[in-house]
Amino acid sequence: MTWSDFQKVLPSTARVNEAGRLEIGGCDTTDLAERFGTPLFVCDLTDVRERLGRYRDVFGGDNVYYASKAFLTSTFAPIVEAEGVGMDCVAGGELYVALAGGFPASRIAVHGNNPSRSELLDAVRAGVGRIVVDSFDEMELLDAVARELDTKVPVLLRITPGVEVHTHSYLMTGVEDSKFGFTIGDLAMSAVRKAASSPGLDLIGLHSHIGSQAFEIEPFAEAARKMTELLAQARVATNGPLPHLDLGGGLGIAYLPADAPAPIEDLAKLLSETVTAEAERLGTPVPSVSVEPGRSAVGPSMVTLYTSGVAKDVPGLRRYVSIDGGMSDNIRVPLYQARYTYLSASRPQASHDRAVTIAGKLCETGDLLGEAMLPELEPGEIVACAATGAYGYAMASNYNKQPRPAVVGVAGGDATVLARRETYEDLTRLE
Ligand code: LLP
Repeated sequence: MTWSDFQKVLPSTARVNEAGRLEIGGCDTTDLAERFGTPLFVCDLTDVRERLGRYRDVFGGDNVYYASKAFLTSTFAPIVEAEGVGMDCVAGGELYVALAGGFPASRIAVHGNNPSRSELLDAVRAGVGRIVVDSFDEMELLDAVARELDTKVPVLLRITPGVEVHTHSYLMTGVEDSKFGFTIGDLAMSAVRKAASSPGLDLIGLHSHIGSQAFEIEPFAEAARKMTELLAQARVATNGPLPHLDLGGGLGIAYLPADAPAPIEDLAKLLSETVTAEAERLGTPVPSVSVEPGRSAVGPSMVTLYTSGVAKDVPGLRRYVSIDGGMSDNIRVPLYQARYTYLSASRPQASHDRAVTIAGKLCETGDLLGEAMLPELEPGEIVACAATGAYGYAMASNYNKQPRPAVVGVAGGDATVLARRETYEDLTRLE
C-alpha cells in the first residue's frame, strides 16, 4: 500500500504535510491525537459538505434526506442543514437530537418499523415533513394520533420491492422476507387504499430502500422501475396525485483502495432516467425522486485515530497489533466482517509492507478490527483507520466500560469538538 492507495479511501483534504504526517482539514492528525486523545473520530467538514452538496445539486435539496442513523450529533445537524438538505430520522431519539440541533422539523422524514404512539405524537406535534409508514398497525396508530391532534399527516408507504442488492445479508432490506414495509403486490395495494381512506393521513407517495453498501447501481434502477409502476397503479386506485417517490439510501463507499463504488451523479442520472422513462411508458406524471443517503454522505469523511499498543507474534501464523479502541467504536468488523484500510498517521509515506491483524482492547476473542498492511510500528504510534464516518460512532457502545471516543470536525486548520470524549464519571451517570 502506498500513499496513492490511501488517498482513494481518505477524505478530500487529506495530505501529507511538511512534517511528513497525515493532515486532514489543515490539522496534523498526530497533533489532534495528542490534543484530544485517542480513539478519536476526525471529521473532514469540507469533505462532508462536498458530499451533501453533491447530493443537493443532483437531486435538489428538497429531495435529499440525509440518513442520520449513519452519524448524528446535535452539533452535526446544523452542518447538514447548512447544505440545504433534509434529514431522515428513525423514531424518537434521532428526531430529538436533530431538533435539539435546531434542524427544521418540516425538513425531517420520520421512519421506523415499530414506532411507539408517543414517538408518533412527538413527530406529528413537532410538525415533521413526512412520515414513512411501515405497517398496517402503524397506519392505524398514526391515523388516530393525527385525528387526535386534528391534523392530516403527509405519509409515504414503505414498500419492499423484492429486489436484492449484492451486500451483506444484514444490509439487505428490499427483499420480500424482510421485517420492513409492505410487500409489493396485493398487500402494497391494500395499504395504499387503506392509507388513502384514512382521514388523518395524506398519502403523498411511496418509499423503498433496498439495502446498503451497494456497488452496483442496476438494482436501484430495478427498484425504481417496480416502484414507478406501483405508484402508477396507486394513483389510479386512489385517484390521487401521489407526487413523491423516495428510493432510500444504499450507495456504497470505498473502504479499501480497490473498491469502486458508483459516483453519486451516476446514481442520480440512472434513477431520474429510469423513473422518467417508466412514467412516460405508463402514461403517469413523472414523480419527484428523493433519496436518503447515509453512508455515502458521511462515511468517507471521517477517520478514526488510534494509539498502537501491545504487539504479539504467533509464529508462522500472524502478528497482532493492539490499538486502544475496538468493537466498542467499530462493531462493523465483527458484525458484518467489514474491511477497512489502516495507515500510520505519523509516516503515511513509509512503506506499509508488514501484514498485521488489528486487535481491539476489549475482552472478547472476536474483538478484531481486520487485516492491515502497516510499517513496523513504534509503540505509541498513531494509526488511522479510513472511512469510519458512517455507522462507526453511531453504533459505538460502552462494552467493557470503554468510554466512547470524541468526535472533532476539522477545516481550515481549526478543530472543533462535535462530541466530547466520555469520561469515567459519564459511565455511572445513569446509576
Ligand atoms: N433509508 C432507510 C430507510 C434505511 O433503512 C437506511 C439504512 C438508509 C436510508 C441509509 O442507507 P445508507 O445510504 O447508509 O446505505 N449499520 C449498517 C447499515 C444499516 C443501514 C440501515 N438502513 C452498517 O454499518 O453497514
